[in-house]
Amino acid sequence: MDDASGASRTAVLVCQGRAAAHGRLAVDRFSDPIAPVLLRPAEREVVEQVRAGQPPAGWRDRMAYELVQGCAEMMVPRTVAIDDAVRQRAADQLVILGAGLDSRAWRLPELAGTTVIEVDHPASQADKLDRIGTLAPLAGSLRFAPVRFDRDELGSALAGAGHDPARPTTWLWEGVVAYLTRGQVRATVAAIRALSAPGSRLIVNYQQPAVASMLGRVVVWAMLKRGGSHPMAGEPWRSLWTPAALRRLLARHGFAVESDENLIEVAGRLGFELRQRRSTRTGRVLVADLSSPA
Ligand SMILES: C[S@@+](CC[C@H](N)C(=O)[O-])C[C@H]1O[C@@H](n2cnc3c(N)ncnc32)[C@H](O)[C@@H]1O
Repeated sequence: MDDASGASRTAVLVCQGRAAAHGRLAVDRFSDPIAPVLLRPAEREVVEQVRAGQPPAGWRDRMAYELVQGCAEMMVPRTVAIDDAVRQRAADQLVILGAGLDSRAWRLPELAGTTVIEVDHPASQADKLDRIGTLAPLAGSLRFAPVRFDRDELGSALAGAGHDPARPTTWLWEGVVAYLTRGQVRATVAAIRALSAPGSRLIVNYQQPAVASMLGRVVVWAMLKRGGSHPMAGEPWRSLWTPAALRRLLARHGFAVESDENLIEVAGRLGFELRQRRSTRTGRVLVADLSSPA
């Protein structure tokens, strides 16, 4: 959380990535026409440069360009894998944890019969509501629950938004786990379990540890922080999970892993050639279904 309002800047970065990818990368499987609508004019400038393939002069602008370009490549497999898992199990209720500028409620017609509840940090959520304005969702119903995972109780916030724990829920947790401590991740999984009826599904995008990736991130972060404008500066990664550790945590709470794919593998399935592989290599999408009654 790094801008004056406290809203997430990484949420903007991944939205810029989706906007830069829309209509250019893996066009038969990926599209996000809502992403550009959610961006402010100044945020769209670098997106337009990436779309035009015109890197700007000056190292700082060039770094911002490379960041959005890399992010565009990462968002394609990540979005496609998650969309597929959501479509496969579009339950009555879809809870999007740390929703940021997620566009699924406005983009996926398969959610026409679904109540979508977006949960996010209050500052990020207020920022999104301001950006989205009066744009009508495709989801059957759309609600918002402001929650800080490091402080607030998920159950009461969701109850206030009309979540029904007696009915199956599909939970989506994309691009958030890395920003939480291990304790916050464990507590959130326990809260999800307590609110999940049989038939519930949890879709998690997370980062696995890799030395090269961490070093690369520190270098990029240090360089851009000097300019005071880096989206990651105020949102450090706090927990990385090996597939085995996350699988064990979920199993303790009754969730059986159905699939857990590296984003490079997903990109390969899409026949999609990645130029920047660093962040994509460590990102994964895991799908787990509730296997035991509460
Ligand atoms: C990288 S963004 C991902 C947004 C979105 N899920 C996506 O993939 O486009 C991280 C999101 O996590 C949220 N977040 C991070 N830490 C949080 C916390 N402690 N409590 C609530 N939300 C948090 C931010 O507000 C932000 O929306």
